[in-house]
Amino acid sequence: MSSPRTVYVKTFGCQMNVYDSERMVEALVPSGFIETKEIVDADLIVLNTCHIREKAAEKVYSDLGRIRDIKIERETRGLRTVVTVAGCVAQAEGAEISRRAPVVDLVVGSQSYHRLPGLVERIEAGERRIVETAFPDDDKFAQLPTRAGVRPPSAFLTVQEGCDKFCTFCVVPYTRGVEFSRPVADVVREAQILVENGVRELTLLGQNVNGYHGAGEDGSPWPLARLLNHLDGLRGLERLRYVTSHPGDMSDDLITAHRELESLMPYLHLPVQSGADRMLAAMNRKHSADDYRRIISRVREARPDIAISTDIIVGFPGETDAEFQATLDLVNEIGFAQAYSFKYSQRPGTPAASIECQVPDDIKTARLLQLQNLLERQQRSFNAACIGRVLPVLFERRGRREGHIVGRTPYLQLVHAEATADAVGHILPVTISASTRNSLTGTVQAA
Ligand code: 5AD
Ligand code: SF4
Repeated sequence: MSSPRTVYVKTFGCQMNVYDSERMVEALVPSGFIETKEIVDADLIVLNTCHIREKAAEKVYSDLGRIRDIKIERETRGLRTVVTVAGCVAQAEGAEISRRAPVVDLVVGSQSYHRLPGLVERIEAGERRIVETAFPDDDKFAQLPTRAGVRPPSAFLTVQEGCDKFCTFCVVPYTRGVEFSRPVADVVREAQILVENGVRELTLLGQNVNGYHGAGEDGSPWPLARLLNHLDGLRGLERLRYVTSHPGDMSDDLITAHRELESLMPYLHLPVQSGADRMLAAMNRKHSADDYRRIISRVREARPDIAISTDIIVGFPGETDAEFQATLDLVNEIGFAQAYSFKYSQRPGTPAASIECQVPDDIKTARLLQLQNLLERQQRSFNAACIGRVLPVLFERRGRREGHIVGRTPYLQLVHAEATADAVGHILPVTISASTRNSLTGTVQAA
């Protein structure tokens, strides 16, 4: 073990980055690092970045400005700070980052996290500005340490990475690379270790998780439904979720899993992006608005109470008022429990960025506002419909208010309830008494 040092990690973007950040910290522990929540105390700062929209990517540079001041201030106290940019901005921009922000010592792409301890060591030994963004041949998962240590009740587990769909707006196929599914045995081993360490709920992650096709013991590919069936039998694991999916990979057996598997929670995040077929074609989504409607109605047949969530982009190049209206119509028909919506953002290197008829920003803003008002009403009414029901809540942590704990319903709604902290890690029946847009309040039922 080397001398103890501290690492501060800031995570931007999606759940996969949250998972990656955890694994980066775990990879650094054998080199003597412990995590700190105070950036000014950190010997190593890691920004785990997101490149999906311009705003997310630009945020990194404003943070780096502040980090430069921290680094200078620490130098006056005789302390060194290694500044690392990881994640999708690292992958997409590489050496350009340290040219724009010379404070950065190390740029490390998402396929090289297992090399982070060695790279940090090289910087500490005096090397300057290392950029490691190739997609290496070695399997990073196999090189990362196993996931020992007690954990909160809900955990992420990446089973699939990268994407071959090439939606014309999206950087993921370029930043995360081609689709890769982890072998079944690896996933099951990691799930077992997590459960042994206190995890009760697993969310399987992938950019296109329902396209999972990891190799089974005999080398033949397992679809996601088979993996879920297998994990459903894991003793001690109470809840399963998966995110994020593509409509094109919503297979019959996956829909059936929603009917049959008790541990598979009634929640499906299925991005639709637009309700207009001409837009969907220009986005290279390979599905129509009616395909989406049909999938949702089959999923609802299998699991009538399922909460449906989605992603929507407004102002994709060429989107007309009528096409935006088609999106509103689809949202009205489906009725989402929850949704993420965005203004289209031109991303360098993606096909849609060079389409001529870009939609002016003021129109995008107005459309987003209108859409978000509708989605907010739907979310509020989904939550309000839970008032009076008794829902099983997996309690995850203490709340901010004394004597309150926080958990989630099967539909992924946040629940605040009065209870002692020993309820954390347990699934308890809660009578829901009030709701807001983003959460529910309730009372734990006596045993
Ligand atoms: N502009 C706006 N939103 C985007 N997304 C992906 N790329 C872009 C872009 N260029 C959204 C999609 C995707 C979600 C993760 O981010 O809706 O499903
Ligand atoms: Fe991006 Fe998702 Fe399309 Fe893949 S399926 S290109 S990750 S939006």
